[in-house]
Amino acid sequence: MPQSRRDFLRSAMAGGAALVLPRVTPLVGALGARRAGRSRLADSHIDIRLDDPIGTIAPEIYGHFTEHLGGVIYDGVWVGENSKIPNVGGIRKALVDALRLIRPSVIRWPGGCFADSYDWRDGVGPRDKRPTRTNFWADDAGLRSVQGGPAKYDPNAFGTSEFMRFCRLVGAQPYLAANVRSLPARAFDEWIEYCNAPAGDTTWSDVRAAAGDAAPYGVRYWGVGNEAWGCGGNFTPEEYAEEFRRFTTAGAPDYGLGLRFVASGPSGADRAWTRGLFDALRARYAVNSVWGLSVHHYCSAPDAGAHAVNFDERGWYDLLASANRMESVIDTVWTVAAEGDPRHHVKLVVDEWGAWHASHPIADASHLFESQSTIRDAVVAGLTLDTFNRNCDKVAMANVAQMINCIQSVFLAHDDGFTVTPVYHVFAMYAAHQGARAVRAEFSAPPHSWTDKDNGAATLWGLNGSASVRGNTLTLTVTNPSMTEARETEIAVRGGAVRSVRATTLAAHSVHDVNTFAHPDTVAPTSAELPAGAVGGSLVYEFPPASVTKLEFALG
Ligand code: AHR
Repeated sequence: MPQSRRDFLRSAMAGGAALVLPRVTPLVGALGARRAGRSRLADSHIDIRLDDPIGTIAPEIYGHFTEHLGGVIYDGVWVGENSKIPNVGGIRKALVDALRLIRPSVIRWPGGCFADSYDWRDGVGPRDKRPTRTNFWADDAGLRSVQGGPAKYDPNAFGTSEFMRFCRLVGAQPYLAANVRSLPARAFDEWIEYCNAPAGDTTWSDVRAAAGDAAPYGVRYWGVGNEAWGCGGNFTPEEYAEEFRRFTTAGAPDYGLGLRFVASGPSGADRAWTRGLFDALRARYAVNSVWGLSVHHYCSAPDAGAHAVNFDERGWYDLLASANRMESVIDTVWTVAAEGDPRHHVKLVVDEWGAWHASHPIADASHLFESQSTIRDAVVAGLTLDTFNRNCDKVAMANVAQMINCIQSVFLAHDDGFTVTPVYHVFAMYAAHQGARAVRAEFSAPPHSWTDKDNGAATLWGLNGSASVRGNTLTLTVTNPSMTEARETEIAVRGGAVRSVRATTLAAHSVHDVNTFAHPDTVAPTSAELPAGAVGGSLVYEFPPASVTKLEFALG
């Protein structure tokens, strides 16, 4: 139950809060016109406890995913050295420039399902000598109208060295997914050797050096297959555990890096897979070879909600509720994993997440699973990243699916057209959490109720978010999932004094607005320094409807 305002203020004061006390005027900006007519919900509270730490937010939670799928690599990341499109050694320059600004801690490549069909040896050595191969996705119904081209027949122009260069350009760590379904463990060892052995020591490291990279890449993160229960081989957990053991136990060369192997986890929160995998690994003393357990959760909305842009009100809430299931997926997998790994040696790696709309390519027919992003997708991103922050003691890495031209799309590009999506702005706002200490924040707000697709009564919290501290800065990020209602909210910071507050808000004139190549700034954040008022009370702040907000508190 939400606290009453008086109770809240009394308990906040008792807890020693020392705060600025401005009655904050709502940020107007792009939302000014719409505000005039809407009603207001009160009785929302956020209680931040600086002395109740959860853990450190791994920067790797802010990771990305690029697969050889549709327009992600070819046309998205890679345009080629001789392209008229501005590029850095073949890599789209606009992408490099924009990506650097959001600090992409880690990038997963080359799949996804593609990984279990990929032979890394096809993508090394001189580019003009590399073979062209049928892409894993070539037969997908979404590519039926496409004749030829890299989405169907991969020219291998973008291989390991190109990917490593991309990572270096944007300051990200590489996370490679190995092929377990159609290559032997020996090929995995040799890929590690190609990446990590000192030049001059092995034949494969000499091939790497000949490509211009004498220094080893130092790849630490290795996925051992992908979705082994599905496109990664349709394995049973027991069969996959055998493969995992063959690939990782005592075989793979380490080169002093302390390699971190990620095992294929369940589909969603599938208990049977998690339990079966840990049981089988434990029986062969292989649990300690696992650093991370991969978890995938995509959200979607049915019926009219499935359209990426022209969704209805129910589709708005259905999608957010579907995204919000991430919290229970994490809880369930974590709890079941504890049966086989009571000390939680293994952390969770949510290496695919995002909103997957029943969509159509928007820029080019070859862009499989591409859709536009609205503020709805930005709220999905905000609430998902907040979920990871709150669970940073369990989640060691997460990778949004995918970086460009696919599913959650942080960017869209085709030929020389390029734009960031609203999702990008969420990553930019939330970058402040990377490496910070997450602290407990309690949210209380009237929940939102609606009738879901099955004509059942559904509810979603009225306000949620996460908080973290780095040095003298407290960062609070908040999503307001209400399509129409602002939330007037009292915020108490317990255990510290606040000197000033800066607000950054991402909202839109219309929930159907999108960024296009011609109008890339239609949905963009606004920032304002809030007036520093009297110290000793609580901050009152109004979160606009359908928004993602970051409040940065300078602590005294
Ligand atoms: O991200 C698209 C696909 O979704 C990936 O290739 C696969 O792992 C998942 O099913």
